[in-house]
Amino acid sequence: MTLHWKRLATDGAARAGMLHTAHGEVPTPVFMPVGTAGTVKAMTADAVRATGARMVLGNTYHLMLRPGAERVARLGGLHRMMDWHGPILTDSGGFQVMSLSGLRKMDEQGVTFQSHVDGSKHRLTPERSVEIQRLLGADVTMCLDECTPFPATGKQAADSMRLSMRWAARCRDAFVEREGHGLFGIVQGSTYADLRAESVEALTRIGFEGYAVGGLAVGEGQEMMFSVLDSTVPLLPAESARYLMGVGTPSDLVGAVRRGIDMFDCVMPTRSGRTGRAYTRRGVLNIRNARHAEDDGPLDPDCSCPACRRHSRAYLHHLFKAGEMLGPMLLTWHNIQYYQDLMAELRQAILEGRFEETAARIEAGWRAGEE
Ligand code: GUN
Ligand code: ZN
Repeated sequence: MTLHWKRLATDGAARAGMLHTAHGEVPTPVFMPVGTAGTVKAMTADAVRATGARMVLGNTYHLMLRPGAERVARLGGLHRMMDWHGPILTDSGGFQVMSLSGLRKMDEQGVTFQSHVDGSKHRLTPERSVEIQRLLGADVTMCLDECTPFPATGKQAADSMRLSMRWAARCRDAFVEREGHGLFGIVQGSTYADLRAESVEALTRIGFEGYAVGGLAVGEGQEMMFSVLDSTVPLLPAESARYLMGVGTPSDLVGAVRRGIDMFDCVMPTRSGRTGRAYTRRGVLNIRNARHAEDDGPLDPDCSCPACRRHSRAYLHHLFKAGEMLGPMLLTWHNIQYYQDLMAELRQAILEGRFEETAARIEAGWRAGEE
């Protein structure tokens, strides 16, 4: 059987389910820590697993440039290379080309771009992106798409979305079916409900193992993002996994789960952790702030991670002030732990039919908050 998702419970539009993959089962809703270059930055694979994370994301763009997809394959694939034996979803590269590479040129066939590492020239087509993701050993392969920049006119958004839909059909043709592996389509269409609907129609006609919503969290704001989800998510097949790409803050995750999203990834917990920002049950704080300098209490008293169980805010503050690398390591661990705990709590609440009261309690905790 190819990769598939099973719905176990619903509460309003929120869903709890299980994603079945070649590298094991993943309870949903799920947050996938981002392991861009074959590592969740500042974390060992064991540490990532200890947070409860069951699935991580890797990037076609970064790995094709360094160390190269064929080299990863010769070294036994991404799972073996990074010692991560759970499922891996890989993004297809288009999004990262637009946000990271130097000179780039899109055409009907694909995108040509300059590496941000050494300026060398590369090309991604739907076929090559799918091939790279197979060489990496991805459990979930993402279609090559264009993440439409925001804002876009209706014409720009339509042209961009329709190109992504033609690429999605080519990705489907190029994808080699393997047990426990699957290909996800990506809905585009910017903030236009009619274009989002057309995109869903095009993708479901082709047929995918799961459906992602792309082109969000690109500057439109939470209210607009939720409004796009309100119009788009109900159109997606009820029996397939739904993945909101590149999102987001804890508040974004609660709001998107409420609207029927099952899967997430975002650099926020890892990237913010490295700069001293911590997400807690009482909101966001920056550990570099002077008010933590002599605070002997934990970052988050209800968190089980090593930063919270074994260390004080004062010590974490000191590590960041002294530029010690343990600081970013501990805050990354904490933030991933917080995201995993949040998803586990939402999932349990859905299974027990009390999603809204749980979400309200979590949101009240943030408001009682820190900053
Ligand atoms: N990551 C965040 N948004 C997107 C998107 O629209 N497409 C892809 N491929 N990756 C993303
Ligand atoms: Zn913690």
